[in-house]
Amino acid sequence: MEIRQRHTISSFNHFHKKYYYIELAIAASGEVEQFGRLEAPLLQLRGVALSMLFSPMQDQLPAASVSERRFRTKSGADMTFSQQSQPFISLRGVRKSFGSLEVLRGIDINIRKGEVVAIIGPSGSGKSTLLRTINGLTPISEGSIRVGDIEVNDPKLDEIKLRHRVGMVFQQYNLFPHWNVLQNVMQAPIQVLKQPRREVEARAHKLLSEMRLPEKADCYPGELSGGQQQRVAIARALCMEPEVILFDEVTAALDPEMVKEVLAAVRKVAEDGMTCILVTHEMGFAREAADHVYFTDKGVIVEHGPPSDFFTRASNPRTKEFLSQDL
Ligand SMILES: Nc1ncnc2c1ncn2[C@@H]1O[C@H](COP(=O)(O)OP(=O)(O)OP(=O)(O)O)[C@@H](O)[C@H]1O
Ligand SMILES: [Mg+2]
Repeated sequence: MEIRQRHTISSFNHFHKKYYYIELAIAASGEVEQFGRLEAPLLQLRGVALSMLFSPMQDQLPAASVSERRFRTKSGADMTFSQQSQPFISLRGVRKSFGSLEVLRGIDINIRKGEVVAIIGPSGSGKSTLLRTINGLTPISEGSIRVGDIEVNDPKLDEIKLRHRVGMVFQQYNLFPHWNVLQNVMQAPIQVLKQPRREVEARAHKLLSEMRLPEKADCYPGELSGGQQQRVAIARALCMEPEVILFDEVTAALDPEMVKEVLAAVRKVAEDGMTCILVTHEMGFAREAADHVYFTDKGVIVEHGPPSDFFTRASNPRTKEFLSQDL
């Protein structure tokens, strides 16, 4: 993050742009000190940088219960996720090591289209790493990850297709400070997907309205509160029209009064039928918004279930201990 601040915006030519993306990638990871340890630095950073452009939003309150949530399939059929036979996202025996540190130790997860999954667990248990494997930012050591018809670890992976399908919102909003809100939201669909400006602009305005930020289109990120910036980041992710959005602790950097507005925005995204994977420390939110909750510890899924069971009948001692700390 310090690196980002040191960047001179006036020197934003092509060369610097490349490094600016790298800086954003590092800022996005929230782990500046780990820069030197990244594997295959250039490739990985390029992937992360691309994802910055692809991160995908809206807000308000309650509506249908999760089991009633509906979404429209590509064929146009309207259905609830419980009617599907095939998972949309599937992780099988996923393992990931950083050097000798095994961070993911055999993860199996199935997520259906339209489903909202919360991943909770202690710090360092591998939650962010898990999310990053799903959009290919972190290559896995073993196992397989499928998103729709894309095998994420296929050496011939079409990165653009994957990032188009999978959006991500980070704890640090990572907006481009020298672009106004509208430009931030519009950039990836125009530059990466080569979509027509007029079409993207209309979509961006609509999303900003849904995020309750219609009057902020011309503002620069530095003129917005943390909660507003995070809602712009959600709008930016949504502007890519992804099929799933990964939310990594999107309220963790916010003051309490802003947490609410961002959670309302995330809830709206979920209620609109977007498949969502939420890494969160907000237990109340996980309980209320998720269809299924996974508890991870030391790189494995210790326990999972629908929130009604998970939060009342957790049986594993590690889960119980973790939940008791939140009370
Ligand atoms: N690029 C990396 N290089 C080396 N080690 C890494 C890298 N990324 C993550 N780790 C290590 O992997 C472990 C899991 O990290 P991860 O960020 O996935 O945890 P987390 O569950 O998201 O934690 P938190 O709740 O604090 O965000 C940590 O020990 C971390 O230091
Ligand atoms: Mg994390």
